[in-house]
Amino acid sequence: MSTLQQRIGSIVFRSPVTVGAGPLTGRLDLLKKAADCGAGAVSIKQTPFSQPRPGVRKMYAERGGYFFNPSDTRLDYRETVDMVKAIKDTTDMAVLVNILGDGANVDSWIFLADLMEQAGADGVELNFACPNPPDKLGNNGGGYQYGASISQYPDLAGTVISGLTSAVRIPVWVKFSGEGTDTAALSRTAQKSGAAGMVAFCSPRGAFPIDIYQGGRPKMAAMQECSFGGINGPGIRKPSQRIVAEAYKAAPSLPIIGGGGISKPEHAIETIMFGADLIFMHTQIMLEGFEIIPKFNDFLLRFMEEQGYDTISQMKGLALKHEIPANELDYTIGPPAQVDTERCVGCGTCAKIAFCRSITLEDGKAKVDPALCECCGLCASLCPKQAIRF
Ligand SMILES: Cc1cc2nc3c(=O)[nH]c(=O)nc-3n(C[C@H](O)[C@H](O)[C@H](O)COP(=O)(O)O)c2cc1C
Ligand code: SF4
Ligand code: SF4
Repeated sequence: MSTLQQRIGSIVFRSPVTVGAGPLTGRLDLLKKAADCGAGAVSIKQTPFSQPRPGVRKMYAERGGYFFNPSDTRLDYRETVDMVKAIKDTTDMAVLVNILGDGANVDSWIFLADLMEQAGADGVELNFACPNPPDKLGNNGGGYQYGASISQYPDLAGTVISGLTSAVRIPVWVKFSGEGTDTAALSRTAQKSGAAGMVAFCSPRGAFPIDIYQGGRPKMAAMQECSFGGINGPGIRKPSQRIVAEAYKAAPSLPIIGGGGISKPEHAIETIMFGADLIFMHTQIMLEGFEIIPKFNDFLLRFMEEQGYDTISQMKGLALKHEIPANELDYTIGPPAQVDTERCVGCGTCAKIAFCRSITLEDGKAKVDPALCECCGLCASLCPKQAIRF
């Protein structure tokens, strides 16, 4: 019989579906909702040692596209401690806390981790991830490396991780930014420094949405000016999965919570097949509600039973068996596309492909000229009726 439950170190995750740190994990009522909906874990919203500037929530969503946030609120560590105690009293859902110390000041990280351990948190998640640094160089106003920029300095990251792992008993997970980061070096450093696992990856930095009819001013409600900031949601899924895979290949025994851009249960399975043990989501839950979590859990369990997987770990990294370097790709040109005329409904999608000289629509059906087909496969991936085969 298949199970969604996994034990990783000292933590039992009742489901692989977790809620990443963000607005959804910064209030007790929301944590309870996540627990009631069957999340395997939550990562409580960023709790910094020093507050670098006022925390104000600013967000923008382009449906089906990207989610942009140049700024968000942060928690005061006293609030976080109260929330950890309250949520751990009422649920068996695992609770991690996303903490952010002051750059290389290891004591500031230990201070936070120690508090969270005493409050009953199951683990801490180090924020080497925040894409919204106070200054353009990635520094905090106080001059130290901040959030995502820490990922770019594996030595600094290693000092913080090993300082923490020798000071606290709870597992230390490392959430990092894949931007400008040597993921393999960081993952190996994390493993050597005693980290419990990696959380890959946080939002890349993108340009703010603009109104082209207003001279390019920010299209953010009530904002005349804006900074560049975190991009989340569907557009980052494939880069995220590559970074999960890089972390897994560099340190195969180090567990991974993978995410970024997951919006469907199938995406969760993809991310596991690229090397994750658990997945996290944020944007999709923001847009559709916590009620999607049970749908993910039901889908995953049904999928595992149908496909004969007993455990999540049996699916971990499977896609990488099919990965080869680009110079080993099969560069021979295979047989041309073939149209199954029974399935073809003549929608014309394939015939619109601008570079392709081989597809025409004749008598309401697609027709391929085999002599002109380059066997690129694009038409087959676009056909809504799966009418094109090779
Ligand atoms: C408004 C907002 C605030 C966030 N705050 C945090 C945070 O405090 N700490 C953190 O590590 N990640 C934070 N994230 C990143 C998310 O946890 C997640 O890594 C990111 O949104 C990508 O996943 P998604 O595409 O499923 O949203 C935040 C994301 C959003 C949208
Ligand atoms: S495989 Fe490529 S070249 Fe061949 S018909 Fe399809 S789109 Fe055109
Ligand atoms: S996209 Fe598929 S269904 Fe549409 S015309 Fe081409 S083969 Fe037919």
